[in-house]
Amino acid sequence: MAVIEVQHPLVKHKIGLMREADISTKKFRELTGEVARLLAYEATADFPLEKTTIECWSGPTEIDQIAGRKVTVVPILRAGLGMLDGVLDMMPNAKVSVVGLARDHETLKPVNYFDRFVGQLDERTALIIDPMLATAGSMIATIDLLKARGCKDIRALVLVAAPEGVKALTAAHPEVRCWTAAIDSHLNEQGYIIPGLGDAGDKIFGTK
Ligand code: PRP
Ligand code: URA
Repeated sequence: MAVIEVQHPLVKHKIGLMREADISTKKFRELTGEVARLLAYEATADFPLEKTTIECWSGPTEIDQIAGRKVTVVPILRAGLGMLDGVLDMMPNAKVSVVGLARDHETLKPVNYFDRFVGQLDERTALIIDPMLATAGSMIATIDLLKARGCKDIRALVLVAAPEGVKALTAAHPEVRCWTAAIDSHLNEQGYIIPGLGDAGDKIFGTK
């Protein structure tokens, strides 16, 4: 399964709170960061460890550390920025690549208006972050850009996914795993996830 719905009670509780229609910008932002941290925890569970010896207070001691893995976090502008600090809390040494995409409201197709990638993408794990996987057009376009630059280990974190997006992403990039806090019912005619969160970018930035 390319899209993994995380069942952890903390994730379920927090994503439920985010659905409140009159939630404040402050609370929505805080919960976005908290769920992002928990999704990052799940998505990195298979990172390999290696042993190293350090000088502990009680003498030389063997500890585990993550085995030389380079990570780039890839927020999709603009709403993906809301998840960035939470993910970087977990991986403070990760580099950040940025992709600017906005959905055309008529066609629902993503329009690329900016991208800036870090180097050595062929050696990195990319963790794409975006709160919403609706049609999956934005996610598929971002994965296409990363693959074109040689990235081989691509993972994604989204807060809410629509079944239509799950199907499209799985068909386009079956090897890319995507962790989500919820797979919702469907997309409405405007391409919004139902029940969903509404417009995640507007809620994070306080626009509209
Ligand atoms: C939203 C969301 C995703 C995209 C999902 O961004 O943050 O990037 O739509 O839709 P899709 O799966 O159908 O592509 P939006 O284009 O509204 O831009 P914003 O982040 O600037 O608000
Ligand atoms: N983008 C959003 O912000 N929300 C949706 O439901 C779909 C796309």
